Amino acid sequence: MKIKLKKWSFEDKEFLIKMCNTIDRNYLSDRLPNPYTNESAKWWLNMVKENDEKKGVFRKIVVDGKIIGTISVEQKEDVYRKDSEIGYYLLQEVYSKGIMTEAVRQICEIAFEKLDIIRITGMVYEPNIASRKVLEKNNFLLEGIMKKAVIKNKNIYDLCIYGKVR
Ligand SMILES: CC(C)(COP(=O)(O)OP(=O)(O)OC[C@H]1O[C@@H](n2cnc3c(N)ncnc32)[C@H](O)[C@@H]1OP(=O)(O)O)[C@@H](O)C(=O)NCCC(=O)NCCS
Repeated sequence: MKIKLKKWSFEDKEFLIKMCNTIDRNYLSDRLPNPYTNESAKWWLNMVKENDEKKGVFRKIVVDGKIIGTISVEQKEDVYRKDSEIGYYLLQEVYSKGIMTEAVRQICEIAFEKLDIIRITGMVYEPNIASRKVLEKNNFLLEGIMKKAVIKNKNIYDLCIYGKVR
């Protein structure tokens, strides 16, 4: 299985819409529009075109020629501008094959090369064991836990703060 990270293009729009309306959102921020519309995709693909390799790195995850997920590292602003935040999700049918562990390895290399950052932060809701493992397998350190910091679908979660320093 060859796991490749590739740049997004406007030709991916229909697939992006389908994927974002299929994924499991239980541990994702509400920033991701729901439902994910044509307008949502157009706005996001334009944002990516403007900011890729300037304020963030944004890649589709491709396995055997098929898009199966997305991953990004976005630079923060103001006094936090040397820091960044990683985000990712996959289609459920390809979970637990080691795909995201490899994708995170690759995006960290790209982000440290292309962006003027010295750290990458991962913010994971406490019960999201798969995501915590993905970061830990990539040598992110659990730096702290913010108690009851998240409300998602009426559930209150602790927020695990992971960091990887250049
Ligand atoms: C989190 C996510 C990206 C993981 O991707 P993935 O490709 O399945 O991850 P990997 O296979 O590389 O590694 C996951 C690890 O967690 C383990 N795992 C998966 N589900 C688990 C669970 N419920 N409990 C314990 N371990 C679990 C896997 O066995 C694997 O561990 P291993 O390498 O020791 O076998 C994927 O589940 C996803 O897209 N979830 C929805 C979106 C999301 O939560 N994004 C992250 C927000 S912070």
